[in-house]
Amino acid sequence: MRHFLQFSDFTLEEYEHLFKRAAILKQRHRAGELYQPLVGKVLAMIFEKSSTRTRVSFEAGMSQLGGHAMFMHSKDTQLGRGEPIEDVAQVISRMTNIVMVRTYEQSIIERFAENSLVPVINGLTNEYHPCQIMADIFTWVERNGPIQGKTVAWIGDSNNVSRTWLQAAKVFDFKLNLACPRGYEMTVLDGQTYGSRYFEQFYDPFQAARDADIVTTDVSVSMGYERETLQRKRDFLNYRVSEKTMLQAKANALFMHCLPAHRGEEVDPEVIDGPQSVVWEEAENRMHTQKAVLEYLLLGKVDN
Ligand code: CP
Ligand code: NVA
Repeated sequence: MRHFLQFSDFTLEEYEHLFKRAAILKQRHRAGELYQPLVGKVLAMIFEKSSTRTRVSFEAGMSQLGGHAMFMHSKDTQLGRGEPIEDVAQVISRMTNIVMVRTYEQSIIERFAENSLVPVINGLTNEYHPCQIMADIFTWVERNGPIQGKTVAWIGDSNNVSRTWLQAAKVFDFKLNLACPRGYEMTVLDGQTYGSRYFEQFYDPFQAARDADIVTTDVSVSMGYERETLQRKRDFLNYRVSEKTMLQAKANALFMHCLPAHRGEEVDPEVIDGPQSVVWEEAENRMHTQKAVLEYLLLGKVDN
């Protein structure tokens, strides 16, 4: 049994398979073709934080594959009243076939997975957001081919999304340039783990964006960090992706954002609503790539 708890849980060869399947599933969906290999299967989705895309993409995707998706928010379940995560995992995994969890610390989803009888997928933790970066890289690959050797410029916080880009840089062999204010750097551990072949720390966003193939950013205040809002808004003032930032990158560079976005804060409207932006494709591709993951974790390598 496999879990998808962080990006490095799958190999390059597995991502190649998943992308091939995602492209097929996307094309079938667009053609209105019925493909329902997961009839009778149930996906449990446990949310401890808010969501639009993750919920809709998993729920719609599971239904399209013929299965059923069950939405649970911890505040409406016994989890919110202190039931141990280990006990919840034992119970839920005896009644369902696969589980998606969005929670706080990565250690929570790991404890869930250790006690689960079925595969567990990370739908975002404080540390990682593997489904997002899988969709983002698929979006690049669909348009431009391999991402190997390319440069991704991240302007903003060293958060769950940028940390996952860093894991992906190692799997796919590309470079992540990260520009953030002092005090918000990628932790030493992450930097040391991946080395400068995959990662370079900047403080100047224009330098980080120079000759990049992808420019990307995210909110400066992630879910769970709301107490730091005032300080972070001040600290990230100079890290907004603007048209000037995009001019540093390659002429055909793509702009990506996992969404939700705050126009005028981490990105200017001219960029996110401009011609280089692929944010709606990224969001849609969450569903197609996650369908490939559901199929893979439940049925193995399918080739039809
Ligand atoms: N990008 C993303 O995960 O969005 P949601 O928080 O809306 O699920
Ligand atoms: N970094 C953001 C991503 C939201 C999809 C957060 O964790 O809130």
